Amino acid sequence: MASSFAFSLLPFFFLSLIISLLPHSNAQLPSSSSRPHGVVLSVTKDASSLQYLTHIFQRTPKVRVNLTVDLGGQFTWVDCEDGYKSSSYRSARCKSVQCKLAGQPTSGCFDKCYGTPRPGCSNHTCSVLPYNSVSGWQSPGDVGSDSLTVKSTDGSDVMVRGLVFSCAPTSLVAGLAGGAKGIVGIGRSATGLPSQFSLAFRFPRKFAMCLSSSKGAVIFGDGPYMAQPGMDLSTSFTYTPLIVNPVSATTGGEKSPEYYIGVKSIKVGGRKILLKRGILSLKKDGLGGTKISTVNPYTVMETSIYNAVTSAYIKHAKAMNISRVASVSPFGVCFSTKKIVNTRAGAIVPSIDLVLQNKRAVWRIFGSNSMVKVKNGVSCLGFVDGGSEAKTSIVIGGYQLEDNLLQFDIPRSRLGFTSSLLFGSRQVACSALNN
Ligand SMILES: *[C@@H]1O[C@H](CO)[C@@H](O)[C@H](O)[C@H]1NC(C)=O
Ligand SMILES: *[C@@H]1O[C@H](CO)[C@@H](O)[C@H](O)[C@H]1NC(C)=O
Ligand SMILES: *[C@@H]1O[C@H](CO)[C@@H](O)[C@H](O)[C@H]1NC(C)=O
Repeated sequence: MASSFAFSLLPFFFLSLIISLLPHSNAQLPSSSSRPHGVVLSVTKDASSLQYLTHIFQRTPKVRVNLTVDLGGQFTWVDCEDGYKSSSYRSARCKSVQCKLAGQPTSGCFDKCYGTPRPGCSNHTCSVLPYNSVSGWQSPGDVGSDSLTVKSTDGSDVMVRGLVFSCAPTSLVAGLAGGAKGIVGIGRSATGLPSQFSLAFRFPRKFAMCLSSSKGAVIFGDGPYMAQPGMDLSTSFTYTPLIVNPVSATTGGEKSPEYYIGVKSIKVGGRKILLKRGILSLKKDGLGGTKISTVNPYTVMETSIYNAVTSAYIKHAKAMNISRVASVSPFGVCFSTKKIVNTRAGAIVPSIDLVLQNKRAVWRIFGSNSMVKVKNGVSCLGFVDGGSEAKTSIVIGGYQLEDNLLQFDIPRSRLGFTSSLLFGSRQVACSALNN
């Protein structure tokens, strides 16, 4: 039944280069009825590493490749040393269009490779530095392109020819969940999947992400996001501007591919907490600010923020007769679950509000996203102390994102978010979205 469409990316790269040179131009390309409105990557959670995993079908003949999802990843990279065979692989020559796109702002050139010619070893090939955001390691790698087959939102298989990625040595895979052969990069860069898919399929440079402890999804293209017949989740978005960090706090490169939002204050149990002046703001050198990450399993806060949030939380929990018990690593604040009332939508505990551009734009974190069961009778506040030297003030991590639908609209530079879908009138989980 599955029909297959193939699109070539190369002509669109030229177009996108031209577009990127025009000031204030709209990067969206017209869509056509013969092209999918969206494509889906299904995402599971690896229980031991807490990484979010997806898979793609790459190469000719097609091979299933499991990859760790990095929301802020600049490009996709895979291990090319371990038996990569494909008749559709093309290495990107130095200074080629793909090289310019992949290497923003700078890319190198491997002039000679003296090994056996293979993907990842060819002469005069563009090189970049694939980054393992889990381990923090980087290693030089060739830029190449190959075919990729993914599912469209209507369930058919669609193929992209010439998807640009980077080859990495096997050693760079260390730290990824068992079976993962690299990282899929969903960052806001020319080589991130949102840009490449939107160029290939001519749909908007938008995607939605709904993570789950079981089965979630990343849906590229526009909505609707139907959780069940008649329930389009895109109608319940609150919007906040997406912020571009001019300097990557992780790699030091120009223009971070990561997604930042502007948290202005934090409330715990409905009360605004007192924070060090300026501690939440994103500085010119790329430090500070709040970013969203799929690589951090839990939200990380700079020490003074962490201390302010946790002490307010402990106070409010005490008022609800929830008593503190010895903490369990990596968490610093744990409670006995004896007095905690549980509902289908998670524990009834003090709420944590990330207040954004105004007092109506609030990302509320409910019990299902704040309390982590660590053992029988003990749940911990799922936040970790990032230290006083933390590069980013707040990193909103995976556990806090689960069963929240997020829509990243790159051309409009805004994030749509729903807070927990388990609460309120919706009462659905991200697994309902996965078609
Ligand atoms: C690259 O060129 C050199 C000679 O200049 C040759 O010895 C080598 O085999 C070539 N490598 C590949 C991977 O083709
Ligand atoms: C890829 O993931 C699937 C599903 O989790 C698993 O069954 C398969 O064994 C994995 N492949 C490899 C090579 O680890
Ligand atoms: C907490 O416990 C005290 C004494 O047992 C009781 O009077 C109070 O109503 C309880 N508060 C809540 C919020 O349950």
